[in-house]
Amino acid sequence: MKRFGVSLEDELLAKLDGLVAAHAFPNRSQAIRFLIRKHLKEEQWKCNREVSGCLVLVYDHHKSDLQNRLTTIQHDFHHLVLCSQHVHLDHSNCIETITLKGQAAKLQELADKLIAVKGIIHGELVMSVIK
Ligand code: NI
Repeated sequence: MKRFGVSLEDELLAKLDGLVAAHAFPNRSQAIRFLIRKHLKEEQWKCNREVSGCLVLVYDHHKSDLQNRLTTIQHDFHHLVLCSQHVHLDHSNCIETITLKGQAAKLQELADKLIAVKGIIHGELVMSVIK
C-alpha cells in the first residue's frame, strides 16, 4: 500500500465526506478506493457494450476550417452517426447535437476526436446502454 496526498476544493471534500458517511466507509481512503474501482469497472463494462449516445458540441463557426474538420471526422465514423442537428445560437456561436449508436469505445473515440478539434468551446458525450 502506498500513501499519497490529495488536494481537493472545500466543496468537493465536503461531498467526499458525505459519501463516507452515506456508505459508512471507515475513512476517506476507503471511499476513494471504492470510487476508483467503481469507475474502472464501469469503464471496462461500458467499452464493449452497444450503446446509444449524444454528443453536444458548442463552437464559433467563424474559426477557420472547423466545420470542415467536424464533417470529415463524422464521415470517417459515418456508421455510428444516426443524425446531427445544428442550431445557430447567435451571430458566431453554434450548438450541434450528434446522435450516435454503436460500440461505446468507438463512440468515445469519435467524441474525443471531435472535441479535440481546435475551436471547440465545449464538448460532452452522454452514453446509455441499450442492450
Ligand atoms: Ni451555426
